[in-house]
Amino acid sequence: MKKSGNFEESIHNEEYYRKCDIRNLNYETMLFKGGRKTEKLNGIWKLTVDQYDVGLRDNWHLPKGQVRNGVQEPWDYNPDDGMEVTVPGCWNTVKPEYFWFEGCGWYARRFRYIKEEQSERVFLHIGGANYDCKIFLNNEFIGNHLGGSTPFYVELTGKILEENLIQVCVNNTRTSDRVPMKNTDWFNWGGLYRDIELIRVPEAYISSFQIHLVPDGTFRNIRAEIAVSGTSASKHAMLEIPELGVREEISLTNGAGSAEISASPELWAPENPKLYDMSVSYGPDTVTDRVGFREIRVEGTDILLNGNKIWLKGISVHEDDARLGKVSSEEDIRRRYAHAKEMGCNYLRLSHYPHHELAAKIADEEGLLLWEEIPVYWAIDFANPATYADAENQLKELIFRDYNRVSVIIWAVGNENADTDERLEFMSSLAKTAKAADGTRLVTAACLVNHAKNRIEDRLTDYLDIIGLNEYYGWYKTDFSQLIDLGINSKPDKPVLFTEFGAGARSGHHGSISEKFTEEYAEHVYEQQIETIEKLDYVKGISPWILYDFTCPRRQNRYQNGFNRKGVIAEDKKTKKLPFYVLQEFYRRK
Ligand code: GCU
Repeated sequence: MKKSGNFEESIHNEEYYRKCDIRNLNYETMLFKGGRKTEKLNGIWKLTVDQYDVGLRDNWHLPKGQVRNGVQEPWDYNPDDGMEVTVPGCWNTVKPEYFWFEGCGWYARRFRYIKEEQSERVFLHIGGANYDCKIFLNNEFIGNHLGGSTPFYVELTGKILEENLIQVCVNNTRTSDRVPMKNTDWFNWGGLYRDIELIRVPEAYISSFQIHLVPDGTFRNIRAEIAVSGTSASKHAMLEIPELGVREEISLTNGAGSAEISASPELWAPENPKLYDMSVSYGPDTVTDRVGFREIRVEGTDILLNGNKIWLKGISVHEDDARLGKVSSEEDIRRRYAHAKEMGCNYLRLSHYPHHELAAKIADEEGLLLWEEIPVYWAIDFANPATYADAENQLKELIFRDYNRVSVIIWAVGNENADTDERLEFMSSLAKTAKAADGTRLVTAACLVNHAKNRIEDRLTDYLDIIGLNEYYGWYKTDFSQLIDLGINSKPDKPVLFTEFGAGARSGHHGSISEKFTEEYAEHVYEQQIETIEKLDYVKGISPWILYDFTCPRRQNRYQNGFNRKGVIAEDKKTKKLPFYVLQEFYRRK
Protein backbone atom coordinates (compact mmCIF):
# COMPACT_ATOMS: atom_id res chain seq x y z
CA MET A 1 0.00 0.00 0.00
CA LYS A 2 1.53 3.35 -1.12
CA LYS A 3 1.88 5.50 2.03
CA SER A 4 1.17 9.24 1.70
CA GLY A 5 3.24 11.79 3.59
CA ASN A 6 0.62 12.04 6.33
CA PHE A 7 0.13 8.30 6.73
CA GLU A 8 -0.23 7.39 10.42
CA GLU A 9 0.39 3.68 11.06
CA SER A 10 -1.79 3.42 14.17
CA ILE A 11 -4.85 5.07 12.61
CA HIS A 12 -4.60 4.38 8.88
CA ASN A 13 -3.32 0.82 8.63
CA GLU A 14 -6.33 -1.52 8.70
CA GLU A 15 -3.98 -4.47 8.13
CA TYR A 16 -2.50 -3.78 11.59
CA TYR A 17 -3.38 -7.28 12.91
CA ARG A 18 -1.29 -9.18 10.33
CA LYS A 19 2.05 -8.53 12.04
CA CYS A 20 0.89 -10.45 15.10
CA ASP A 21 -1.06 -13.20 13.36
CA ILE A 22 1.59 -15.80 12.48
CA ARG A 23 -0.12 -18.78 14.19
CA ASN A 24 3.27 -20.27 15.10
CA LEU A 25 1.98 -21.74 18.37
CA ASN A 26 0.25 -24.91 17.36
CA TYR A 27 0.33 -28.69 17.38
CA GLU A 28 3.95 -28.71 16.21
CA THR A 29 5.13 -26.76 19.28
CA MET A 30 3.43 -28.94 21.88
CA LEU A 31 5.33 -30.54 24.73
CA PHE A 32 4.56 -33.68 26.73
CA LYS A 33 3.74 -32.32 30.19
CA GLY A 34 3.21 -35.59 32.11
CA GLY A 35 4.34 -35.22 35.70
CA ARG A 36 6.63 -32.28 34.97
CA LYS A 37 7.17 -29.69 37.71
CA THR A 38 5.44 -26.46 36.69
CA GLU A 39 5.52 -22.90 38.10
CA LYS A 40 2.06 -21.40 37.90
CA LEU A 41 1.74 -17.83 36.65
CA ASN A 42 -1.91 -17.94 37.75
CA GLY A 43 -3.12 -15.32 40.19
CA ILE A 44 -3.52 -11.57 39.92
CA TRP A 45 -2.98 -10.09 36.46
CA LYS A 46 -3.77 -6.61 35.16
CA LEU A 47 -6.51 -6.60 32.52
CA THR A 48 -7.20 -3.83 30.00
CA VAL A 49 -10.13 -4.41 27.66
CA ASP A 50 -9.46 -3.08 24.20
CA GLN A 51 -12.65 -2.74 22.15
CA TYR A 52 -11.01 -1.03 19.13
CA ASP A 53 -7.87 -3.21 18.88
CA VAL A 54 -5.79 -0.14 19.78
CA GLY A 55 -3.25 -2.40 21.43
CA LEU A 56 -2.35 -4.02 18.13
CA ARG A 57 -2.68 -0.82 16.11
CA ASP A 58 -0.54 1.15 18.57
CA ASN A 59 1.79 -1.61 19.74
CA TRP A 60 0.87 -1.73 23.40
CA HIS A 61 3.63 -4.31 23.85
CA LEU A 62 6.20 -1.57 23.32
CA PRO A 63 7.09 0.80 26.17
CA LYS A 64 4.75 3.83 26.28
CA GLY A 65 5.13 7.32 27.74
CA GLN A 66 8.80 7.40 26.82
CA VAL A 67 10.80 10.55 27.42
CA ARG A 68 12.22 11.78 24.13
CA ASN A 69 14.39 14.89 24.02
CA GLY A 70 13.45 15.49 27.68
CA VAL A 71 9.70 15.44 26.93
CA GLN A 72 7.49 12.57 28.02
CA GLU A 73 5.26 11.32 25.23
CA PRO A 74 1.55 10.92 26.08
CA TRP A 75 0.39 7.36 26.65
CA ASP A 76 -2.97 5.59 26.56
CA TYR A 77 -1.94 2.29 28.06
CA ASN A 78 0.30 0.99 30.78
CA PRO A 79 0.48 -2.74 31.57
CA ASP A 80 0.46 -1.96 35.29
CA ASP A 81 -2.64 0.26 35.07
CA GLY A 82 -5.09 -2.50 34.16
CA MET A 83 -7.86 -3.79 36.42
CA GLU A 84 -6.75 -6.51 38.85
CA VAL A 85 -8.31 -9.81 37.80
CA THR A 86 -7.73 -13.44 38.68
CA VAL A 87 -6.25 -15.81 36.10
CA PRO A 88 -7.60 -18.37 35.20
CA GLY A 89 -10.76 -16.38 34.66
CA CYS A 90 -13.20 -15.02 32.10
CA TRP A 91 -13.43 -11.23 31.82
CA ASN A 92 -17.21 -11.64 31.49
CA THR A 93 -17.47 -12.43 35.19
CA VAL A 94 -15.26 -9.65 36.61
CA LYS A 95 -17.83 -6.87 36.34
CA PRO A 96 -21.36 -6.52 34.86
CA GLU A 97 -20.33 -4.14 32.09
CA TYR A 98 -17.81 -6.72 30.81
CA PHE A 99 -20.37 -9.55 30.61
CA TRP A 100 -21.19 -8.96 26.93
CA PHE A 101 -17.69 -7.77 25.92
CA GLU A 102 -16.25 -9.40 22.83
CA GLY A 103 -12.90 -8.24 21.53
CA CYS A 104 -9.33 -7.99 22.83
CA GLY A 105 -8.43 -8.30 26.48
CA TRP A 106 -4.83 -7.38 27.33
CA TYR A 107 -3.53 -9.30 30.35
CA ALA A 108 -0.22 -8.22 31.89
CA ARG A 109 1.90 -9.21 34.83
CA ARG A 110 5.52 -9.11 35.95
CA PHE A 111 7.39 -12.18 37.21
CA ARG A 112 10.85 -13.26 38.22
CA TYR A 113 12.75 -16.16 36.76
CA ILE A 114 15.91 -17.59 38.31
CA LYS A 115 17.77 -20.10 36.22
CA GLU A 116 18.26 -23.40 38.07
CA GLU A 117 20.35 -25.33 35.53
CA GLN A 118 22.77 -23.68 33.09
CA SER A 119 21.43 -25.54 30.03
CA GLU A 120 17.77 -25.58 31.04
CA ARG A 121 15.10 -24.57 28.55
CA VAL A 122 11.87 -22.81 29.52
CA PHE A 123 8.43 -23.17 28.04
CA LEU A 124 5.24 -21.24 28.72
CA HIS A 125 2.15 -23.45 28.78
CA ILE A 126 -1.41 -22.14 28.48
CA GLY A 127 -4.21 -24.67 29.05
CA GLY A 128 -6.74 -22.65 27.07
CA ALA A 129 -7.54 -19.05 26.04
CA ASN A 130 -10.56 -18.03 23.97
CA TYR A 131 -9.76 -17.54 20.99
CA ASP A 132 -6.77 -15.87 19.33
CA CYS A 133 -4.03 -15.62 21.98
CA LYS A 134 -0.96 -13.43 21.36
CA ILE A 135 2.07 -13.64 23.63
CA PHE A 136 4.44 -10.72 24.26
CA LEU A 137 7.48 -11.09 26.51
CA ASN A 138 9.62 -8.15 27.52
CA ASN A 139 8.21 -5.98 24.74
CA GLU A 140 8.71 -8.62 22.06
CA PHE A 141 5.99 -10.44 20.13
CA ILE A 142 6.63 -14.18 20.60
CA GLY A 143 3.72 -15.68 18.74
CA ASN A 144 0.02 -16.47 18.66
CA HIS A 145 -2.32 -19.46 18.91
CA LEU A 146 -5.75 -19.94 17.43
CA GLY A 147 -8.41 -22.09 19.06
CA GLY A 148 -10.47 -21.39 22.16
CA SER A 149 -10.11 -24.68 24.02
CA THR A 150 -6.85 -26.49 23.34
CA PRO A 151 -3.48 -26.10 25.09
CA PHE A 152 -0.38 -24.54 23.59
CA TYR A 153 3.25 -24.03 24.43
CA VAL A 154 5.84 -21.41 23.56
CA GLU A 155 9.55 -21.64 24.22
CA LEU A 156 10.92 -18.66 26.14
CA THR A 157 14.54 -19.85 26.37
CA GLY A 158 16.89 -17.00 25.45
CA LYS A 159 14.10 -14.43 25.76
CA ILE A 160 13.21 -14.80 29.43
CA LEU A 161 15.11 -12.54 31.88
CA GLU A 162 15.40 -12.33 35.64
CA GLU A 163 12.73 -9.63 35.68
CA ASN A 164 9.99 -10.13 33.09
CA LEU A 165 6.93 -8.39 31.75
CA ILE A 166 4.51 -10.75 30.03
CA GLN A 167 1.51 -9.44 28.09
CA VAL A 168 -1.14 -11.74 26.68
CA CYS A 169 -3.68 -10.34 24.23
CA VAL A 170 -6.74 -12.62 23.99
CA ASN A 171 -9.30 -11.87 21.27
CA ASN A 172 -12.63 -13.71 21.41
CA THR A 173 -14.30 -11.84 18.58
CA ARG A 174 -16.63 -14.23 16.71
CA THR A 175 -15.71 -14.28 13.02
CA SER A 176 -16.91 -16.39 10.10
CA ASP A 177 -13.49 -18.00 9.50
CA ARG A 178 -13.15 -19.37 13.04
CA VAL A 179 -13.95 -22.77 14.59
CA PRO A 180 -16.59 -22.35 15.92
CA MET A 181 -17.79 -19.38 13.86
CA LYS A 182 -20.16 -16.56 14.82
CA ASN A 183 -23.31 -18.45 15.71
CA THR A 184 -23.26 -21.01 18.54
CA ASP A 185 -25.81 -22.13 21.08
CA TRP A 186 -23.40 -21.46 23.94
CA PHE A 187 -21.89 -18.35 25.47
CA ASN A 188 -18.67 -16.90 24.06
CA TRP A 189 -16.74 -16.54 27.33
CA GLY A 190 -13.53 -14.61 26.81
CA GLY A 191 -10.09 -14.58 28.34
CA LEU A 192 -7.30 -16.60 29.89
CA TYR A 193 -9.58 -19.17 31.46
CA ARG A 194 -7.21 -22.08 32.09
CA ASP A 195 -3.83 -22.44 33.81
CA ILE A 196 -0.79 -20.49 32.63
CA GLU A 197 2.57 -21.81 33.81
CA LEU A 198 6.27 -22.12 33.20
CA ILE A 199 7.87 -25.50 32.55
CA ARG A 200 11.62 -26.07 32.77
CA VAL A 201 13.15 -28.95 30.79
CA PRO A 202 16.74 -30.09 30.21
CA GLU A 203 18.46 -29.15 26.96
CA ALA A 204 17.38 -32.53 25.54
CA TYR A 205 13.89 -33.55 26.58
CA ILE A 206 10.93 -35.82 25.87
CA SER A 207 8.61 -33.84 23.59
CA SER A 208 5.92 -36.49 23.07
CA PHE A 209 4.97 -39.83 24.61
CA GLN A 210 2.06 -42.06 23.66
CA ILE A 211 1.11 -45.45 25.08
CA HIS A 212 -1.81 -47.78 24.37
CA LEU A 213 -2.94 -51.38 24.30
CA VAL A 214 -2.52 -52.75 20.79
CA PRO A 215 -6.11 -53.31 19.55
CA ASP A 216 -5.40 -56.87 18.29
CA GLY A 217 -7.91 -58.66 20.53
CA THR A 218 -5.18 -60.36 22.60
CA PHE A 219 -5.07 -57.64 25.30
CA ARG A 220 -1.43 -58.73 25.75
CA ASN A 221 0.53 -56.13 23.79
CA ILE A 222 1.37 -52.58 24.83
CA ARG A 223 2.79 -50.10 22.32
CA ALA A 224 4.80 -47.05 23.35
CA GLU A 225 5.96 -44.25 21.05
CA ILE A 226 8.33 -41.50 22.05
CA ALA A 227 9.84 -38.41 20.48
CA VAL A 228 12.64 -36.29 21.92
CA SER A 229 14.03 -32.83 21.16
CA GLY A 230 17.43 -31.24 21.67
CA THR A 231 20.84 -32.80 21.33
CA SER A 232 21.96 -35.57 23.68
CA ALA A 233 24.44 -38.38 23.46
CA SER A 234 21.82 -40.80 24.72
CA LYS A 235 20.40 -42.99 21.95
CA HIS A 236 17.62 -44.56 23.99
CA ALA A 237 14.86 -43.93 26.49
CA MET A 238 13.70 -46.14 29.34
CA LEU A 239 10.03 -46.97 29.90
CA GLU A 240 9.02 -48.34 33.30
CA ILE A 241 5.66 -49.64 34.50
CA PRO A 242 6.71 -51.16 37.83
CA GLU A 243 3.39 -52.84 38.68
CA LEU A 244 3.53 -54.72 35.36
CA GLY A 245 7.24 -55.52 35.70
CA VAL A 246 7.89 -53.53 32.55
CA ARG A 247 11.35 -52.01 32.17
CA GLU A 248 11.88 -51.47 28.45
CA GLU A 249 14.71 -49.72 26.69
CA ILE A 250 13.43 -47.89 23.59
CA SER A 251 16.10 -47.09 21.03
CA LEU A 252 15.82 -43.75 19.27
CA THR A 253 16.58 -42.90 15.66
CA ASN A 254 16.37 -39.25 14.53
CA GLY A 255 14.79 -38.41 17.88
CA ALA A 256 12.00 -40.96 17.76
CA GLY A 257 11.40 -44.55 18.79
CA SER A 258 8.73 -47.09 19.64
CA ALA A 259 8.39 -50.49 21.24
CA GLU A 260 5.80 -53.25 21.54
CA ILE A 261 5.91 -54.93 24.91
CA SER A 262 4.05 -58.08 25.86
CA ALA A 263 2.36 -57.67 29.22
CA SER A 264 -0.87 -58.70 30.97
CA PRO A 265 -2.43 -55.54 32.27
CA GLU A 266 -5.70 -55.60 34.15
CA LEU A 267 -8.10 -54.10 31.63
CA TRP A 268 -9.62 -50.70 32.37
CA ALA A 269 -13.40 -50.52 32.30
CA PRO A 270 -16.10 -48.45 34.08
CA GLU A 271 -16.58 -51.17 36.67
CA ASN A 272 -12.78 -51.53 37.09
CA PRO A 273 -10.93 -48.25 36.32
CA LYS A 274 -7.50 -49.76 36.83
CA LEU A 275 -4.61 -47.34 36.28
CA TYR A 276 -0.84 -47.92 36.27
CA ASP A 277 1.90 -45.46 37.22
CA MET A 278 4.59 -45.29 34.57
CA SER A 279 7.65 -43.23 33.78
CA VAL A 280 9.89 -42.60 30.79
CA SER A 281 13.46 -41.33 31.14
CA TYR A 282 15.73 -39.92 28.49
CA GLY A 283 19.07 -38.63 29.68
CA PRO A 284 18.37 -36.21 32.55
CA ASP A 285 14.70 -35.86 31.57
CA THR A 286 11.90 -37.94 33.14
CA VAL A 287 8.15 -37.75 32.63
CA THR A 288 5.42 -39.74 34.34
CA ASP A 289 1.77 -40.60 33.75
CA ARG A 290 -1.04 -42.73 35.14
CA VAL A 291 -2.43 -44.87 32.34
CA GLY A 292 -4.98 -47.58 31.82
CA PHE A 293 -5.25 -50.20 29.11
CA ARG A 294 -8.46 -51.09 27.24
CA GLU A 295 -9.54 -51.90 23.72
CA ILE A 296 -12.49 -50.18 22.01
CA ARG A 297 -13.76 -51.22 18.58
CA VAL A 298 -16.91 -51.77 16.59
CA GLU A 299 -18.26 -54.95 15.03
CA GLY A 300 -21.29 -54.44 12.82
CA THR A 301 -23.64 -52.29 14.88
CA ASP A 302 -22.01 -53.29 18.19
CA ILE A 303 -19.49 -51.34 20.24
CA LEU A 304 -17.04 -53.65 22.00
CA LEU A 305 -15.07 -52.61 25.08
CA ASN A 306 -12.36 -55.18 25.83
CA GLY A 307 -14.22 -57.55 23.52
CA ASN A 308 -17.54 -57.17 25.37
CA LYS A 309 -20.62 -55.45 23.94
CA ILE A 310 -21.30 -52.15 25.69
CA TRP A 311 -24.25 -49.73 25.72
CA LEU A 312 -23.24 -46.14 26.39
CA LYS A 313 -25.47 -44.67 29.11
CA GLY A 314 -24.58 -41.06 28.77
CA ILE A 315 -25.34 -37.40 29.16
CA SER A 316 -23.98 -34.36 27.32
CA VAL A 317 -22.18 -31.60 29.23
CA HIS A 318 -20.89 -28.10 28.55
CA GLU A 319 -18.08 -26.29 30.33
CA ASP A 320 -20.24 -23.51 31.68
CA ASP A 321 -20.94 -21.98 35.06
CA ALA A 322 -23.10 -18.97 35.91
CA ARG A 323 -20.46 -17.80 38.45
CA LEU A 324 -17.18 -19.01 36.93
CA GLY A 325 -17.99 -18.74 33.24
CA LYS A 326 -15.86 -21.24 31.34
CA VAL A 327 -13.35 -21.76 34.16
CA SER A 328 -13.38 -25.42 35.10
CA SER A 329 -12.17 -26.67 38.44
CA GLU A 330 -11.52 -30.14 39.82
CA GLU A 331 -14.44 -29.60 42.20
CA ASP A 332 -16.75 -28.62 39.30
CA ILE A 333 -15.71 -31.61 37.19
CA ARG A 334 -16.12 -34.06 40.12
CA ARG A 335 -19.61 -32.65 40.78
CA ARG A 336 -20.50 -33.15 37.11
CA TYR A 337 -19.35 -36.77 37.26
CA ALA A 338 -21.08 -37.39 40.58
CA HIS A 339 -24.39 -36.24 39.07
CA ALA A 340 -23.79 -38.39 35.99
CA LYS A 341 -23.05 -41.42 38.16
CA GLU A 342 -26.09 -40.70 40.32
CA MET A 343 -28.11 -41.01 37.11
CA GLY A 344 -26.38 -44.31 36.34
CA CYS A 345 -24.15 -43.05 33.50
CA ASN A 346 -21.06 -44.94 32.31
CA TYR A 347 -20.33 -42.32 29.62
CA LEU A 348 -20.33 -38.57 28.94
CA ARG A 349 -20.26 -36.45 25.79
CA LEU A 350 -17.93 -33.50 26.43
CA SER A 351 -19.51 -31.05 24.01
CA HIS A 352 -18.80 -29.15 21.69
CA TYR A 353 -15.11 -28.37 22.26
CA PRO A 354 -12.18 -29.83 24.22
CA HIS A 355 -12.85 -29.49 27.94
CA HIS A 356 -10.26 -28.90 30.67
CA GLU A 357 -7.51 -31.56 30.64
CA LEU A 358 -8.59 -32.60 34.13
CA ALA A 359 -11.91 -33.82 32.72
CA ALA A 360 -10.30 -36.87 31.08
CA LYS A 361 -7.84 -37.45 33.92
CA ILE A 362 -10.66 -37.62 36.46
CA ALA A 363 -12.77 -39.77 34.12
CA ASP A 364 -9.83 -42.21 33.98
CA GLU A 365 -10.02 -42.52 37.76
CA GLU A 366 -13.80 -42.52 37.96
CA GLY A 367 -14.30 -45.13 35.24
CA LEU A 368 -16.36 -42.93 32.92
CA LEU A 369 -16.09 -43.29 29.14
CA LEU A 370 -15.73 -40.06 27.16
CA TRP A 371 -16.61 -38.56 23.80
CA GLU A 372 -14.30 -35.60 23.01
CA GLU A 373 -15.13 -33.12 20.27
CA ILE A 374 -13.74 -30.17 18.31
CA PRO A 375 -16.08 -27.21 17.65
CA VAL A 376 -16.76 -27.72 13.95
CA TYR A 377 -20.26 -26.58 14.78
CA TRP A 378 -23.20 -25.74 12.49
CA ALA A 379 -22.15 -23.45 9.58
CA ILE A 380 -18.36 -23.35 9.28
CA ASP A 381 -16.46 -21.68 6.41
CA PHE A 382 -15.80 -25.14 4.95
CA ALA A 383 -14.29 -23.80 1.71
CA ASN A 384 -11.67 -21.71 3.54
CA PRO A 385 -8.24 -23.45 3.78
CA ALA A 386 -7.27 -21.31 6.78
CA THR A 387 -10.40 -22.47 8.59
CA TYR A 388 -9.54 -26.07 7.78
CA ALA A 389 -5.98 -25.58 9.06
CA ASP A 390 -7.40 -24.14 12.29
CA ALA A 391 -9.85 -27.03 12.76
CA GLU A 392 -7.23 -29.67 11.97
CA ASN A 393 -4.79 -28.06 14.36
CA GLN A 394 -7.38 -28.07 17.15
CA LEU A 395 -8.03 -31.75 16.47
CA LYS A 396 -4.33 -32.63 16.57
CA GLU A 397 -3.79 -30.60 19.74
CA LEU A 398 -6.67 -32.40 21.43
CA ILE A 399 -5.38 -35.85 20.40
CA PHE A 400 -1.84 -34.92 21.50
CA ARG A 401 -3.11 -33.75 24.92
CA ASP A 402 -5.45 -36.68 25.68
CA TYR A 403 -3.86 -39.56 23.76
CA ASN A 404 -2.91 -41.40 26.97
CA ARG A 405 -6.33 -40.90 28.58
CA VAL A 406 -7.90 -44.37 28.70
CA SER A 407 -11.39 -42.94 29.38
CA VAL A 408 -11.47 -41.23 25.97
CA ILE A 409 -12.91 -43.70 23.45
CA ILE A 410 -14.26 -41.33 20.78
CA TRP A 411 -12.92 -38.37 18.78
CA ALA A 412 -15.73 -36.31 17.26
CA VAL A 413 -14.94 -34.02 14.34
CA GLY A 414 -18.05 -31.83 14.53
CA ASN A 415 -21.72 -31.23 15.20
CA GLU A 416 -24.86 -30.63 13.11
CA ASN A 417 -23.34 -29.53 9.81
CA ALA A 418 -25.32 -29.46 6.57
CA ASP A 419 -24.30 -32.26 4.16
CA THR A 420 -22.64 -30.09 1.50
CA ASP A 421 -19.69 -31.05 -0.75
CA GLU A 422 -17.35 -28.56 0.96
CA ARG A 423 -18.36 -29.90 4.35
CA LEU A 424 -17.87 -33.49 3.22
CA GLU A 425 -14.37 -32.67 1.95
CA PHE A 426 -13.53 -30.75 5.15
CA MET A 427 -14.88 -33.18 7.71
CA SER A 428 -13.88 -36.39 5.94
CA SER A 429 -10.33 -35.01 5.95
CA LEU A 430 -10.62 -34.38 9.67
CA ALA A 431 -11.92 -37.90 10.20
CA LYS A 432 -8.96 -39.31 8.26
CA THR A 433 -6.58 -37.07 10.22
CA ALA A 434 -7.98 -38.39 13.50
CA LYS A 435 -7.63 -41.97 12.31
CA ALA A 436 -4.06 -41.37 11.15
CA ALA A 437 -3.13 -39.75 14.47
CA ASP A 438 -4.83 -42.45 16.54
CA GLY A 439 -5.85 -45.87 15.23
CA THR A 440 -6.95 -47.06 18.69
CA ARG A 441 -10.13 -44.95 19.09
CA LEU A 442 -13.44 -44.48 17.30
CA VAL A 443 -14.04 -41.47 15.07
CA THR A 444 -17.44 -39.87 14.68
CA ALA A 445 -19.50 -36.70 14.32
CA ALA A 446 -22.93 -35.61 15.61
CA CYS A 447 -25.00 -35.68 12.41
CA LEU A 448 -28.43 -34.32 11.61
CA VAL A 449 -31.44 -36.35 10.53
CA ASN A 450 -32.09 -36.29 6.77
CA HIS A 451 -35.51 -34.74 7.34
CA ALA A 452 -36.39 -34.87 3.64
CA LYS A 453 -36.30 -38.66 3.81
CA ASN A 454 -36.86 -38.88 7.57
CA ARG A 455 -33.97 -41.26 8.02
CA ILE A 456 -30.39 -41.47 9.21
CA GLU A 457 -28.52 -40.61 6.03
CA ASP A 458 -25.42 -38.44 5.72
CA ARG A 459 -22.52 -38.93 3.28
CA LEU A 460 -20.01 -38.22 6.07
CA THR A 461 -20.97 -41.45 7.86
CA ASP A 462 -18.93 -43.40 5.29
CA TYR A 463 -15.84 -41.96 7.01
CA LEU A 464 -16.99 -42.60 10.57
CA ASP A 465 -16.73 -45.65 12.86
CA ILE A 466 -19.95 -44.82 14.64
CA ILE A 467 -22.79 -42.43 13.73
CA GLY A 468 -23.76 -39.71 16.15
CA LEU A 469 -27.30 -38.45 15.62
CA ASN A 470 -28.97 -35.36 17.08
CA GLU A 471 -32.77 -35.42 16.98
CA TYR A 472 -35.34 -33.33 18.81
CA TYR A 473 -38.59 -35.13 18.18
CA GLY A 474 -41.08 -33.95 20.74
CA TRP A 475 -39.39 -30.53 20.90
CA TYR A 476 -38.35 -28.82 17.65
CA LYS A 477 -40.10 -31.61 15.72
CA THR A 478 -43.41 -31.83 17.61
CA ASP A 479 -44.78 -34.88 15.72
CA PHE A 480 -43.20 -37.65 17.81
CA SER A 481 -44.39 -40.43 15.50
CA GLN A 482 -41.75 -39.28 13.03
CA LEU A 483 -39.06 -40.65 15.35
CA ILE A 484 -40.70 -44.05 15.22
CA ASP A 485 -40.72 -43.80 11.38
CA LEU A 486 -37.10 -42.64 11.35
CA GLY A 487 -36.17 -45.69 13.36
CA ILE A 488 -37.90 -47.95 10.86
CA ASN A 489 -36.66 -46.09 7.74
CA SER A 490 -33.02 -46.22 8.83
CA LYS A 491 -30.74 -49.25 8.20
CA PRO A 492 -27.31 -48.17 9.47
CA ASP A 493 -24.53 -50.75 9.15
CA LYS A 494 -22.60 -49.31 12.07
CA PRO A 495 -23.44 -48.41 15.68
CA VAL A 496 -25.57 -45.30 16.20
CA LEU A 497 -25.43 -43.04 19.23
CA PHE A 498 -28.31 -40.63 19.83
CA THR A 499 -25.99 -37.81 20.77
CA GLU A 500 -28.75 -35.31 21.51
CA PHE A 501 -32.45 -35.27 22.32
CA GLY A 502 -34.25 -33.33 24.99
CA ALA A 503 -36.71 -30.61 25.93
CA GLY A 504 -36.53 -27.23 27.64
CA ALA A 505 -38.08 -26.86 31.10
CA ARG A 506 -37.78 -24.12 33.70
CA SER A 507 -37.03 -25.95 36.98
CA GLY A 508 -39.99 -25.66 39.31
CA HIS A 509 -42.36 -24.74 36.49
CA HIS A 510 -45.04 -27.41 36.56
CA GLY A 511 -48.12 -28.02 34.42
CA SER A 512 -49.54 -30.34 31.77
CA ILE A 513 -47.50 -32.65 29.52
CA SER A 514 -48.63 -30.54 26.56
CA GLU A 515 -47.38 -27.19 27.94
CA LYS A 516 -43.87 -26.44 26.74
CA PHE A 517 -41.24 -25.46 29.34
CA THR A 518 -43.00 -27.38 32.10
CA GLU A 519 -41.07 -30.19 33.78
CA GLU A 520 -43.93 -32.53 32.93
CA TYR A 521 -43.60 -31.77 29.21
CA ALA A 522 -39.88 -32.55 29.33
CA GLU A 523 -40.48 -35.69 31.39
CA HIS A 524 -42.96 -36.92 28.78
CA VAL A 525 -40.50 -36.28 25.94
CA TYR A 526 -37.84 -38.34 27.75
CA GLU A 527 -40.28 -41.19 28.36
CA GLN A 528 -41.29 -41.28 24.67
CA GLN A 529 -37.69 -40.99 23.46
CA ILE A 530 -36.50 -43.86 25.66
CA GLU A 531 -39.44 -46.09 24.78
CA THR A 532 -38.68 -45.61 21.04
CA ILE A 533 -34.88 -45.75 21.23
CA GLU A 534 -34.94 -48.96 23.25
CA LYS A 535 -36.55 -50.73 20.29
CA LEU A 536 -33.78 -49.76 17.85
CA ASP A 537 -31.13 -52.51 17.84
CA TYR A 538 -28.52 -50.37 16.10
CA VAL A 539 -28.64 -47.70 18.80
CA LYS A 540 -25.77 -48.43 21.21
CA GLY A 541 -25.93 -45.41 23.39
CA ILE A 542 -27.38 -42.01 24.14
CA SER A 543 -26.17 -38.67 25.56
CA PRO A 544 -29.31 -36.57 26.06
CA TRP A 545 -29.01 -32.80 25.88
CA ILE A 546 -27.91 -31.88 28.59
CA LEU A 547 -26.79 -32.27 32.26
CA TYR A 548 -27.16 -28.63 33.37
CA ASP A 549 -28.97 -25.56 32.06
CA PHE A 550 -26.28 -23.34 30.57
CA THR A 551 -25.61 -19.71 29.63
CA CYS A 552 -26.85 -19.01 26.13
CA PRO A 553 -27.47 -15.58 24.56
CA ARG A 554 -29.76 -17.16 21.93
CA ARG A 555 -32.39 -18.05 24.56
CA GLN A 556 -34.38 -15.05 25.73
CA ASN A 557 -38.00 -16.01 26.46
CA ARG A 558 -39.56 -15.68 29.96
CA TYR A 559 -38.53 -19.21 30.93
CA GLN A 560 -35.04 -18.99 29.52
CA ASN A 561 -33.63 -15.53 30.47
CA GLY A 562 -30.34 -16.15 28.71
CA PHE A 563 -30.12 -19.85 29.56
CA ASN A 564 -30.70 -22.97 27.50
CA ARG A 565 -33.15 -24.80 29.74
CA LYS A 566 -32.68 -28.33 28.43
CA GLY A 567 -30.70 -29.36 31.48
CA VAL A 568 -31.97 -32.30 33.55
CA ILE A 569 -30.56 -30.19 36.40
CA ALA A 570 -30.90 -26.40 36.66
CA GLU A 571 -27.93 -24.01 36.28
CA ASP A 572 -27.46 -23.97 40.07
CA LYS A 573 -26.10 -27.49 39.50
CA LYS A 574 -28.36 -28.69 42.36
CA THR A 575 -32.03 -28.59 41.41
CA LYS A 576 -33.00 -31.75 39.55
CA LYS A 577 -35.85 -31.73 37.05
CA LEU A 578 -38.24 -34.62 36.31
CA PRO A 579 -36.26 -35.91 33.28
CA PHE A 580 -33.34 -36.62 35.63
CA TYR A 581 -35.37 -39.36 37.27
CA VAL A 582 -36.67 -40.76 33.94
CA LEU A 583 -33.08 -41.20 32.79
CA GLN A 584 -32.03 -42.61 36.19
CA GLU A 585 -34.80 -45.18 36.06
CA PHE A 586 -33.87 -46.16 32.49
CA TYR A 587 -30.15 -46.52 33.27
CA ARG A 588 -30.96 -48.53 36.43
CA ARG A 589 -32.69 -51.18 34.32
CA LYS A 590 -30.42 -50.92 31.20
C1 GCU B 1 -28.35 -28.50 19.00
C2 GCU B 1 -26.93 -28.21 19.33
C3 GCU B 1 -26.75 -27.80 20.74
C4 GCU B 1 -27.93 -26.94 21.16
C5 GCU B 1 -29.15 -27.82 21.14
C6 GCU B 1 -30.40 -27.04 21.50
O1 GCU B 1 -28.55 -29.72 18.72
O2 GCU B 1 -26.01 -29.21 19.02
O3 GCU B 1 -25.55 -27.09 20.83
O4 GCU B 1 -27.73 -26.39 22.41
O5 GCU B 1 -29.37 -28.28 19.85
O6 GCU B 1 -31.05 -26.62 20.57
O7 GCU B 1 -30.68 -26.89 22.67
